[in-house]
Amino acid sequence: MSELKNFKNFKIKTLKYRINYLEPEAKILEQAAQIINHGGLVAFPTETVYGLGADALNADAVKKIYEAKGRPSNNPLILHINNLNQAEDLVYLDDRAYSLMREFWPGPITFVLKAKSIIPLETRGGLDTAALRMPDNKIAYKLIEAANTPIAAPSANISGRPSPTDFNAVSQDMDGRIDMILYSDNNNLNKNIGIESTVIDISDEQPLLLRAGGTPKELIDKFLLKNFNVKLEKPDEQSKRRSPGTRYRHYAPLIPVKICYFKDNNFIDLKDNSEWGFIGLHEPNKIFKKVLIFKSLESYARELFKSFREFEAEGLQGIIAELPDDETGVGLGLRDRILRASAL
Ligand code: TXA
Ligand code: MG
Repeated sequence: MSELKNFKNFKIKTLKYRINYLEPEAKILEQAAQIINHGGLVAFPTETVYGLGADALNADAVKKIYEAKGRPSNNPLILHINNLNQAEDLVYLDDRAYSLMREFWPGPITFVLKAKSIIPLETRGGLDTAALRMPDNKIAYKLIEAANTPIAAPSANISGRPSPTDFNAVSQDMDGRIDMILYSDNNNLNKNIGIESTVIDISDEQPLLLRAGGTPKELIDKFLLKNFNVKLEKPDEQSKRRSPGTRYRHYAPLIPVKICYFKDNNFIDLKDNSEWGFIGLHEPNKIFKKVLIFKSLESYARELFKSFREFEAEGLQGIIAELPDDETGVGLGLRDRILRASAL
């Protein structure tokens, strides 16, 4: 593939294909799979955010992911798979891992487990563990099947930027840097989650919540308590079992994001700001240049990253984001993303 030789110049031609969500066209999948199998990069939709995929077992291909994203190479990638046999080839599984996978996959949850040596160190950021996820999206499923290899995929954004949830966002960050973008308009029939998967580390006795996300923490706790008499804990600051990715400021647009709170039917300390935008669950009682109100935590999460990018593109000077206090459902993950986008 001649384009791939020029990869470091980031001037490669990026093929862009719209693909049918319900019945992904075999021809397009075949071409995408060939790129993966030749060590190239393909962005593809999942039910959370778009992934930037490469053959997870090809160290050189994986290195290109880090280059295209500008991502620190010690921040490990998630391996996307589409069946449990694949998981057995990649990591060491115990009863608890099997039952969690059967309960929650396919879906927005990633499991960190002890890695087998078949996974290159590049893919797992030098760690002795690896992260696995089975996405609930037919295009992703079929792509993994066609490539016949696990696909390493971080979110398809430049490192630190909001994760992409539509074609425009992927294209904005990755055009000219990768070989192909697969996209779909009615991706997942608009049931997308909009923030990334929940990441839990089950490589040791005590399961840890490394990143809140699409799968609610309370559902995982309920399942773990009932079947294994244990609950998720947060890693302490010194823990080696932390997620390297959570150390960096993340998910942020180029304009500042500030938080506001809604309590007892009122916003606390909210001021007029005619050059800024507002996003949240309640109508603000102050003046903003643009206001987006979401009817539910789910739609807020689904639109969060897209709103960040839109407000930025529209030339607003900053964003005031209402921080919801509901930590159930997608609330915990949504709060985490808003807090980290606003971190200085
Ligand atoms: O929903 C998602 O998870 C999306 C879609 C594309 O699947 N992917 C995604 O990947 O969000 P990324 O690379 O943006 O985030 C992966 C997270 C990072 O915080 C990384 O540090 C953590 O997973 N991670 C990966 N492997 C790990 C490991 N072995 N130990 C601890 N954390 C790990
Ligand atoms: Mg990411």
